[in-house]
Amino acid sequence: LASTEVDLSTIPLGQIVTVKWRGKPVFVRHRTPQEIKAAEDAPLAELPDPEPDSKRVQKPEWLVIIGVCTHLGCIPTGKSGEYDGWFCPCHGSTYDVSGRIRSGPAPSNLEVPKYAFVSDTKIKIG
Ligand code: FES
Repeated sequence: LASTEVDLSTIPLGQIVTVKWRGKPVFVRHRTPQEIKAAEDAPLAELPDPEPDSKRVQKPEWLVIIGVCTHLGCIPTGKSGEYDGWFCPCHGSTYDVSGRIRSGPAPSNLEVPKYAFVSDTKIKIG
């Protein structure tokens, strides 16, 4: 499938769902106000791959990222790790609630795929 639609209305606040897109997992996270604040307040100077949260989301409540660790391609585990983002079990990279690399061997942030809101509660990835 070239594109995948995701119905956001089925994802409770604070939860992450994983959908398949072009053979890869894509994480869709319904971020809480606290998570949004943590993502926005992270000091860019401390980030190995500095990128403001606002450049990674279209709506602050919804983070959409490709679930493939940028180190060697393992699938990170959600809501874990020091920053409560993702933790990669293979070599210990940690990502924050914006999917940005914070520690460990991964060189860059989890990738944001091309996607668009087709309605208030639906996105199309790809
Ligand atoms: Fe994720 Fe190595 S593949 S840390």
